[in-house]
Order: sequence, then C-alpha cells, then structure tokens
Amino acid sequence: MIYIYFFFTLEFLWIRNLNFSLSVGDLHYSANACLLPICSLYGMAVTTVEGVGSTRTRIHPVQERLAKCHGSQCGFCTPGMVMSIYTLLRNHPEPTYEQMTAALAGNLCRCTGYRPILDACKTFCKVRTSDYRREKILVLFSFSFKESARLFSPDEFQPLDPTQEFIFPPELMRMAENQPKRTLVFHGERMMWISPVTLDELQDLKAAHPKAPLVVGNTGVGPDMKFRGVFHPIVIAPARIPDLNVVKCMSDGLTIGAACSLSLMKDVLRNAILELPEEKTKIFYAVLQQLRTLGGEQIRNVASLGGNIISRKSTSDLNPILAAGNCMLNLASQGGKRWIPLSDIFANGVGNNAIMPEEVLVSVHIPHSRKYISAFRQAPRRENALPIISAGMRVLFEEGTDKIKDLSIFYGGAASTTVCAKQACQTLIGRYWNEQMLDEASRLILNEIILPNSASDGKIEYKKILIVSFFYKFFLEVLQSLKTMDPCRYPGIPMEYESVLENFQTKMPQSIQIYQNVELSQSPQDPVGRPIMHQSGIKHATGEAVYIDDIPSVDGELFLSVVTSSRAHAKIVSVDTSEALKEPGVFDIITANDVPYMICISQVICVGQIVCAVAADSYAHAKQAAAKVKIEYEALEPVILTIEDAIRHNSFFEPKRKLERGDVDKAFETVDHILEGEIHIGGQEHFYMETQSVLVVPKGEDKEMDVFVSTQHPAFIQEMVAASLGVPANRIMCHVKRVGGAFGGKLLKAGLLASVASVAANKTNRAVRLILSRGDDMLITGGRHPFIGKYKVGFMNDGRIRAVDVKYYINGGCTPDESVLVAEVSLLKMDNAYKIPNLRCWACACKTNLPSNTAFRGFGFPQSGLVTETWITEVAEKTGLSPEKVREMNMYKEDEQTHFKQKLDPQNLIRCWNECMEKSAYYSRKTAIEEFNKQNYWKKKGIAIVPMKFPFGLGSRYLSQAAALVHIYTDGSVLLTHGGIELGQGIHTKMIQVASRELNIPMSYIHFCETSTTTVPNACASVGSAGTDVNGMAVKDACQTLLKRLQPIINENPKGNWNDWIKEAFEQSVSLSATGYFRGYDADMDWEKGEGQPFTYFLYGTACSEVEINCLTGDHKNLRTDIVMDIGCSINPAVDIGQIEGAFVQGIGLYTMEELKYSPEGVLHTRGPDQYKIPAVCDIPEQFNVSLLSSSQNPYAIYSSKGLGEAGLFLGCSVFFALRDAITCVRNERGLKKTFALNSPLTAEQIRAACTDDFTKMVIGRWGSDLFNYV
Ligand SMILES: Cc1cc2nc3c(=O)[nH]c(=O)nc-3n(C[C@H](O)[C@H](O)[C@H](O)COP(=O)(O)OP(=O)(O)OC[C@H]3O[C@@H](n4cnc5c(N)ncnc54)[C@H](O)[C@@H]3O)c2cc1C
Ligand code: FES
Repeated sequence: MIYIYFFFTLEFLWIRNLNFSLSVGDLHYSANACLLPICSLYGMAVTTVEGVGSTRTRIHPVQERLAKCHGSQCGFCTPGMVMSIYTLLRNHPEPTYEQMTAALAGNLCRCTGYRPILDACKTFCKVRTSDYRREKILVLFSFSFKESARLFSPDEFQPLDPTQEFIFPPELMRMAENQPKRTLVFHGERMMWISPVTLDELQDLKAAHPKAPLVVGNTGVGPDMKFRGVFHPIVIAPARIPDLNVVKCMSDGLTIGAACSLSLMKDVLRNAILELPEEKTKIFYAVLQQLRTLGGEQIRNVASLGGNIISRKSTSDLNPILAAGNCMLNLASQGGKRWIPLSDIFANGVGNNAIMPEEVLVSVHIPHSRKYISAFRQAPRRENALPIISAGMRVLFEEGTDKIKDLSIFYGGAASTTVCAKQACQTLIGRYWNEQMLDEASRLILNEIILPNSASDGKIEYKKILIVSFFYKFFLEVLQSLKTMDPCRYPGIPMEYESVLENFQTKMPQSIQIYQNVELSQSPQDPVGRPIMHQSGIKHATGEAVYIDDIPSVDGELFLSVVTSSRAHAKIVSVDTSEALKEPGVFDIITANDVPYMICISQVICVGQIVCAVAADSYAHAKQAAAKVKIEYEALEPVILTIEDAIRHNSFFEPKRKLERGDVDKAFETVDHILEGEIHIGGQEHFYMETQSVLVVPKGEDKEMDVFVSTQHPAFIQEMVAASLGVPANRIMCHVKRVGGAFGGKLLKAGLLASVASVAANKTNRAVRLILSRGDDMLITGGRHPFIGKYKVGFMNDGRIRAVDVKYYINGGCTPDESVLVAEVSLLKMDNAYKIPNLRCWACACKTNLPSNTAFRGFGFPQSGLVTETWITEVAEKTGLSPEKVREMNMYKEDEQTHFKQKLDPQNLIRCWNECMEKSAYYSRKTAIEEFNKQNYWKKKGIAIVPMKFPFGLGSRYLSQAAALVHIYTDGSVLLTHGGIELGQGIHTKMIQVASRELNIPMSYIHFCETSTTTVPNACASVGSAGTDVNGMAVKDACQTLLKRLQPIINENPKGNWNDWIKEAFEQSVSLSATGYFRGYDADMDWEKGEGQPFTYFLYGTACSEVEINCLTGDHKNLRTDIVMDIGCSINPAVDIGQIEGAFVQGIGLYTMEELKYSPEGVLHTRGPDQYKIPAVCDIPEQFNVSLLSSSQNPYAIYSSKGLGEAGLFLGCSVFFALRDAITCVRNERGLKKTFALNSPLTAEQIRAACTDDFTKMVIGRWGSDLFNYV
C-alpha cells in the first residue's frame, strides 16, 4: 500500500440497479489520492482536506476536535485522519464505534499511538449504553481530587451540523442528468486513457488493444506502474459501463458486476444476509468476513471485485473463498459471452489461458450455499495487511450424514496464485468427518500444496502450519455446526475449544489518562502544567501546516532522483549515464566527482548506497531517467550482512566497550544456578510519515543558499552543505518549520541528502528539491540496530541474581554513524531497574554491508533492556517463582549506585511499580487469567508487569547547550525562537508556555515562526528527549533578561498593562530583544575506569500489559495496558501523555510486529507499508490507561519536569512478556520444555511455532526447529 497524507472524498451519484435497500442518492467515499487516476474522477466532486475547512473560513468540527483532543503531533497523518472521519460523518452523522474504527483501519500514524485520535472520534459517535457504562466505570477508577483525567473539554466543541456541509455541485448533478454518456479519451505525455460507456465498445477496444489493462480502482495496476516499472501506453477504464455495475438478486444467488467496488459488495452482502434465510447466506458471511479486513476503507471504496479476481494475486482474500463457493464468471468478448467456474482461472497457475486477452469480466455469480463454507486469513497485521495465508473451504455431506460428498479447499499466499488441494479433496470423498479424516486430510493437503522455496518473505514453515491449522479450524467449525443439526449423533467440540472459532475483532479502545492538577494558587493565565493543544494542531488538521514538499515551487526548480547501488559489496566498474541524459527534461547528473566523500566513487559497501542523482524538470522525469543509469559491478568479498558474519570475519567498529562491577567470576562459583542464553532483536525502520526531504534555493549572491530541510539538526546540515560547497557556514541558511516525524532518523542521513541536493543546486544554479520516496527512504537511510544479546546469569534458589556476564553485538551497517555511541548507551542502561552486585557487560558494533544504522528513539536501551528482562524472566521460570517476584526482589531499593558508580534514588521507581500493580489490579487479573486459561485450550491469555529506569543525559556538556532569541515588538507581540526542532513532540508549544509564564503574558501574544541557523547559531540536535529541558532553560533565560529590563518600567507604572510597558520601554530606548543561553548539563564518563556521571537524572515507569493469543494461528490481541510514569512535573500533560502513548505503541511495533527482511544478497525486501507493518488502530490495547506519578520533583530540569520523548518505547516490551506468559501457559499445559527462547519481534509466526502441537510437528517434523528458535 502506498500511504499518503492527502485523502480526499469522492462524492457522486450512484445510480445502480440494486435490489437491496441501498439508497440512491449522494454517497461519500474516501480514497487514496496517490493511487486514484485523475481521469477516473470525471463527473465527480472531489473534496480535499482544505475544502473541509480552514482557518481562513470555518474550521470543521472534525478538524477542531482532532486538534483539541491532541490527536495530532507531527501532523503529517492528520489530513488523512480528517478525511476518513469526515467521509464517515457525511454518510453517518452519528456513527457507531465499530463504523469509526473501521473507517480508520486504513490510516497510519507513527506519533500518537492513536488513542487521542480515537478520543476525538468518540465525540461524534452514538455511544451504546453498555460502552457508556464501561467508560463511566473507568472514569470512577481511583484518582484523587488533586488529579485530573480531562485532557480536553468537549463543551468547547462546535456541534456537528450536517446541514452546513457542501452539497453535491449542481453543475455536476445537471451534467449527470442531462448529458448523454459518451466515450471519454484523455491523452497524456505517454499514455492514453479510454473510458467507454457500453459493453460493445469495451469489447471492441479490448479486441483492438488486448494488452491494455482494464483499470477500475487502479489498486492493482497502479502499484505495478509506480513501483515495479510496468508501463501501459493505453489504459481502458470500464467503470461507467452499466453491465459491469449490476447487482442482481437471483433465485440461486447474487450476481455482482465486475466493476462494483468492494465497499459496495460489502453493503450488498450485508443486506442479503439480513433479507435472505440463513441457509442461503453462509457464503455471504464468509466473503463478508474477508472483506472486513481487506485493505482499508480507502482501498475498498475504489478496488473492484473484478480487479481482485482477475489480478489472480497469490494474496487475494476473495479468490479462495469464491472458488470454494463455486462462483461463476461471466466473460464477454466480440466472440460472445460465456460462463466459466472461477476456479478455472488459476487451475494451472497464473499464466493459464482460461481467460483470453480480449475477454472482459462482466459479472460474478455467487451461488447460495448451504451450511458448511468458511474463509480464513492470517496477516502480519489484523487489518489492512495482505494475508500470509488465506483460505476458502466448503464441504457437502450426503443427506443426513457426516459422510463427505463434495469438498473444496483453496489457499491463497501459498504459491504464485490461488491453489486448490484438489487431489486431497477427491481422496477424502466418502470419508466421515472425524479425527481420522482430519489426520489424513492434513497430511494429504501438506503433500499437495507445495510452497516454492524462493518465497521472499521466507515464512514457508509458518505458511504450512497455517495451511493445516486452518483446515483444523474448519474441521472444528463443521463439527460444531453438525451438533446443531443433530446433537445426539454429533456432540460438537469440547467447551474449551469453542473460543478459537471466534476471530479477534477490533473494538473501540477505552482509556483513561491521569495527571496532577496545577495548584489552585496558580494564575489562570499561567499555562504551565495545563493540557494545552499543540500550537500547530489546527493547521495540521486543515492542511495549512507547511512541510518541505508543500513549499510552493520556485521558478525553474529541478527535482532530484537518486540512483542507488544494487550490490552489497562491489567494485564499480562503470557508471553509464548516457541513456539517462537523453531522457526528456533531464538537466544534469550529480556524481562522485561533484560530491566527493558523500557519493561512492569506486566501491559500494551496501545496497542502497547513492551512486549518482539525476536532476530533471519534474519528479517523473528524474525518476524515469534514474532508471536508465547503468552501473556495472565487480563482486567483492566478503559480503558481511549479519552479526554472525561480522563475528566470523572479526569486522567491528572501534572501540569496543566493557563495564564491570564486583567479582563476577567468583560470584558464579557461589551461586545455586547458572543459566545461559541468547536473544536476537530485529532492527526497526523509523517510518516517519514525512520521508527525508530537502529544498535548496540558491540566492544568487555571494554563494548564499537557503536550505529548507526536514531534520533534527539544522546546524549539522549547514556544516555539511557548506563543506560540500566549499563555502563558509555563514552563506548557508537552514530553515526548519516543522518535521513530519523523525525519531532519530533525520540527523546524519539528512545531512548527506542535503549535501547532494545543494551540490546539484550549485551546479545547475537552480532550486533543487529532493523528496525521497518511501521505498528509497527505507532502502537508504537505515534504522534501529539489530542486536544480539548473549547472557550468562548466576542466581540463588530464592531468585536473587548474584552475577551476570552479558555480551551485546549490534549491527552497525557499513559506516560508523553513531553505532559505537549506541553500543555505549546500551551498556550504560542495561541494568534497567535492577541492582546486580556482580556484573560484566560488553558491547561491540559490527561493521557489515547493510545500510548504516543510526539513532532511533531509545538509542540502544530498548534492545539491552529487553535482554535484561529476558534473563529476569528465565530466572523466574527456572526458580518457579513468578516474574514479578523476581523483578521486585532484584530491583534497586534505596539510595544506590549504578554499575558505573552513578548515584540514584529509586524511590519513584518503587512508587511507579506499586501504583501500577494497584491500578492494573495485577493480582486479581492474574487469577482471572489463570481461570480463563483453564477453560480455553486454543486461546490463552498472558500478563506481564515490567519496571523501567530511564537515565536522561547526552553524555557531554557541550551536547546539551542551547540558545533562544526573543523579540518583543512595539505592539506587544512576541516572536520567539530557539534551537529546538518541532518533530511532533510539541516543543514549540511548551516553549511558548515557558515564555508565557516568564513574561507573564497570555500565550496568544507569542508566536513561533521557524528554527533557523540565522537566528540561533550552532544549536545542538533535538535528540535524546532533551529538547524541552535545554531549550526551555534558554527561553527562560532570554525572557528573564527582558523582564529584568522591563522591571523598572513596570515598577513605575504597576497598574499599566503589557502594551503600555512595551511602548514605554521603546520610548526609553530599552532593548526589546534578548538571547538566552543554557550551558548544558555536566556529564562525564571514563570508559577506561568504567565509571562516571554520564546522566543528569532518571525517569521511572512501569507498564502492565495483558494479551490474548490464538494458538492455532499465532494471532494476538492487546487487551489492556496500564502505565504509570514518573516524569516530574509535567509542563503539558496532554503533550507528555501523548509522547508516552506514542512511544509505547512504537515499542509494540518494535517488539511484536515490525520485521525487516533482507535477501541473502543484502537487498532489503521490506520497502513500504505493504511489506513493513507498523501498528495500526487494531493493535493498540483495548483498554489503555496512563497515569503520571504525582508529587515528583526534579531539581535539574525546567519547572521540575523531565525529558520523556524516548522512555515510553521500552515499556512496549510488557506486551512481549505478556505474550511470553501466554505461550508459557500453552507449553506448560502441553508438557513442553520449560525453557524456550523467543526473539524480537515476537510475531504471529514465532508465537505459532512456540505453541507446539501436532500440526507444527507435522510440518517441522520434530518438536520445534532452529527456525522457530527453540532451545
Ligand atoms: C493497499 C492495498 C491493500 C490491499 N489489501 C488487500 C487484501 O488485504 N486482500 C486482498 O485480497 N487484496 C488486497 N488488495 C488488492 C486489491 O483488492 C485489488 O488490487 C483490487 O481488488 C483490484 O481492483 P482494482 O479495481 O483496483 O483493479 P485494477 O488495478 O484497476 O485492475 C487490476 C487488474 O484487473 C484487470 N481487470 C479489472 N477489471 C477487469 C474486468 N472487468 N475484466 C477483465 N479484467 C479486469 C485489469 O486489467 C488489471 O490487470 C490490496 C490493494 C492495495 C493497494
Ligand atoms: S501525528 Fe500522526 S504521524 Fe505524526
């Protein structure tokens, strides 16, 4: 899927031959702008986010509520969210929770963790009494009058008034009514779009252009053209032909036109189920079940039934079930019409000629089917993800028996198209529906469905397990249905098996956020400590907020497209740009000769390294030409990709680091037990919504250049660009208005891209824009370091851990970047919340031929912390104690020293732990879970509570210095700037709060324009959660300087107001501009001695998570999370809670979902949202509570706050350990080995493999294989 942030609504009249109660009138559809061909919009009204409302006209309630409920952080996803909600409200002004979560299933947000977005959505929903009661109960959930649970006040919201919405444009209405339909032809530079209106015309066109695709939704053809280099000079669009849009309810089934959208099909099936007797609609249920999770609503609104079928994609959810249901295809060509069974089109694989190139699919007939038919799917994410395996199964018994008369089993995802277990089905005819048949069927199916070993996702064994597990589920479903027919003969399935028949559903999450109220004595005007809306929230929601690609184009501007290496380690023999230079619109090609050191010259050391860049007059031209650059390579050895390879080749970045306390070797001699183990933690893609972007504008004088860039560190960009151009830094002006998410990924990599763009701008003397596509961004820029932790732990019978020896290896990729620093931080933070008296830890950064990995929220701690929590859990398993007891026992308790001798006071760590225990009702829920697990065999629940100590600090004083500049104008307005970057963390909002308190003026007087190297020079990077701490000090300093200057004037006229004082100050020649400065925090670390004070203070937190797993599929559901965090005194609880939730959900992604896949040659396979799954609405806990620890002080940071952007991510591992708890229960019940290793991310594949049963044995051949990481 291509994820874009502009969605728009299509409003148009549907005049269709419907037999069901679908109303005829104007309907509204959301759609993905990036896939929808503009030509397909003829006759439709399109509304973009700017048309919904704006600050210049009227803000729409959707925009207002998203912003005021704090549903927007970086804002890049916000217009998409607005459009999805707006569209739903146009169709259903009072939607249900289910409709709302379904509407958002196709939207992604990387910042918020979705909770505040859903809070905004809820304000529009018709709440069912039961939901309402549940929320009320939650609100009663203990908190004192000093605390608040309100982050926004709904009384402020404008009501939603559907009568105020735009109407369908009358011109278009008249056009639809009066103008006869005629064929439309649009010509582009290279393509022709033909849209006929009759079937005859279509048949003629298809006969004339048999290779031309029929494009309806373009969701199949579009991605091929955009990403896979497929080109079609002629496209035929059949959507306006009535025959392809019919919906007919026949006596034996439903006939649905091939051009009908999947959304329409969903509605039609839902209505059919309501109107027809149950025995006729079983197949409709099954298809509907697949449609619910197929794509998101934006995709289903445009994707057609015919397109899904004819594409014959392996991953089709519909083909297996439609084939199993004996559906028929109505085909037409100049030669006439014919009906064929749908199963024929993939009977011999994708390339079979069951459909002739000149034939078109007119409609699909779905016959009524009696009882036993079902569909199944398992995907990397429950919603909006292509299936790993999908299946459709149908069985017919001889009258009144359970003897098989007919059986159909089809699978998607197993081979290059849908496949049928034909022979197995034939063999099983005549068998009775019992265990014996199940066993035989499973073996026959496994023998018949051959999975190609070349599958790029590499999930071969998992797919096989799913193939048999789905059949088993079907077996259970049928047994249960037989029981309803004749309970005496067919007893059904055991009660404890029943729950597995139900799939997990996405429910509207419930949540509560608790924070400390400001003191009653605080001035109402003083905003500090209050949940103030993000300063740009409304502009995010109206689409007015400007990101790099929104900056209007400059005269003569060029676009840059990068050409990257396709080899991991090779000599460049030649780069041939001659063909590329001949392409239309090409201006120049930037090579290593232009940017030495930035672009590789003679050798490539990873796939994705920039070899050259093409500058052309449009993005499309630059991209087309880039594809024409030919690079010849000569392979070099060795190719080192993994940590294991690096260890084998002794390939490391120096220095390696080590810390030691106590006498580890001696301690190992005295302990009761020793355990040893290893955990692998995969990398993580930043997946910021705004990809790396830069616009460079030469100013034409003195080699000055404006660089507009999406970065966390403008001063570094300035330095890199200046060095690349050989000019002093004072000629380069870097500007950052806002960044659409960064998470550590927009530091060094942004510098490289800005250098290339500025060299291109300098060479061509034109403005140059470089916006990386998602695929290039993922390929080039690296991410979180993959990690291996090898541990040896010595402990006593009572659970006390006495000795730990642990080694960390991190995969740094091909250049040092910050890898050694990440390794150091992983060592410094590895103790997490525990005092280990004898501890030795080592870390080294491996040098490999992967793209260079870099900083990512948490910076090494999420990995080393997970290793620690893993061995803690294993100690619990070995001793038979509960994990929480072992955690409690080994936790820091009183004033202590860390393993590098820094003092810490763990009082708030213990408070967070105790409060979380209490707020989550840990023990009573644990008991309830035990009871649930006893009563359910195939579904299990698990719970885990994990504490956290998160040290704050940047390691050196100079890295935490900061400056601010505050101007007061004679009208009293204030312009504020500082060195921090707005990445979505709300730093500018907080800085305005600080300035408002210090100057004692309302926030509305203060404006923030941009961060720029022209106003604040040499600013440090916005990293390490430190932005507010350090810039806040600088802003406070500047404001205090100004106030000191104003004080005599205020003293002279105490009854005057701000404007009077400013006017007077100006007249008295008092300077109204001041800089503020903060020197940074003392920090030192002596790695030789292994001791120091690298951190300024500590944050603490605890998270308790509960999950439920499906042991047959490996699927899981996050049921509940409670977090208690000590963040000192929050400057803005709404922003801070948002940071905790957003980071936590990113942590869920890291530990349970996000999986990077490389080929054995080092080519990244996961290069977009279709292959790489970040958490969506369906992944957040159904109940998600966050409390900020009250009465916590921090003398080191502004207003006693604590910097918290990163900390919450680690707490996502509570879900990992809850999953482990559920798996442990399964394994204990089945008498499997107690000790087992689980790697991160703990995906459905791993969960399924760890829940060993007869099916996994059947596939893997023994009790687990190395692939599934058993030990
Ligand atoms: C983000 C995303 C998520 C998705 N998720 C899922 C999923 O979870 N499960 C799933 O099953 N699918 C999924 N899909 C695939 C999607 O369902 C199909 O791409 C879609 O149904 C194709 O319909 P279309 O109208 O867009 O096809 P188009 O792209 O317009 O056409 C696709 C092909 O079908 C042919 N074609 C179309 N209509 C006819 C006709 N009447 N006669 C003959 N040939 C015809 C065209 O020639 C073309 O080759 C997803 C797609 C995207 C982009
Ligand atoms: S606010 Fe959603 S991606 Fe940033």
